[in-house]
Amino acid sequence: MRRLYAVVSLGIFVGGAALLLTAGGKEEIAPEVEKKVVNLGHRATMALLQKLLGEVTTSLEEKGPVATIEYCSKRAYPLTDSISEAFGVRIKRTTFKYRNPKNKPDKYEEEALRYFERFFKEGKNPPKYYVQKVKVGDRLVYRYYFPLKVLKLCLTCHGTPGKDIKPEVYEAIKRRYPEDRATGYKEGDFRGVVRVEIPPEVLK
Ligand code: HEC
Repeated sequence: MRRLYAVVSLGIFVGGAALLLTAGGKEEIAPEVEKKVVNLGHRATMALLQKLLGEVTTSLEEKGPVATIEYCSKRAYPLTDSISEAFGVRIKRTTFKYRNPKNKPDKYEEEALRYFERFFKEGKNPPKYYVQKVKVGDRLVYRYYFPLKVLKLCLTCHGTPGKDIKPEVYEAIKRRYPEDRATGYKEGDFRGVVRVEIPPEVLK
């Protein structure tokens, strides 16, 4: 009897583990944990976007697009890092069509980008977020992703050169980012995601 019990519980354990571990080392997340991941991820994302959007808008108005490119390449990272630190997370902006190769997606980020991309391709509203529990290096972390839509204001630097992007602005972009992929967007397009990586101990 005891032996049978051991075999059965082993079976459940193995079955459970198989259920938990899906392809590529990604794991299921318990609903109560997901709630916490989404809450923290969303707050960190909003803090970043509010600040970034505010500062980019002000800089565009006061200094113009060429000087704002300077802002985007110099100020955006320290700002992102300070917000990451304040929330105990690691924030990154990533996309398939990146301007800065530093923002290139890893395999889990690619999965999240593809997840949102599908909705945009079908002309549907994207879900508000996507979450993952993944192994990065030797530790398990949670990831929250927030989809970014292209607004009219973004076209100044991410629209079509010659149409939305002025020649001197395009030149400044090309000088700094010779392999830029981040133009040709239209309003409402899927631009990429804000990714918030959350270590489990921060959720307690
Ligand atoms: C004044 C020009 C300018 C405007 C306006 C602008 N961006 Fe950018 N954007 C840049 C530059 C320059 C970079 C590269 C920064 C870097 O070095 O990481 C960038 C990078 C990004 C990235 C990181 C991924 C990548 O391509 O490297 C995202 C996401 C992004 N922009 C989204 C937006 C969105 C959404 C808007 C509108 C709300 C916007 N941008 C408006 C200039 C601009």
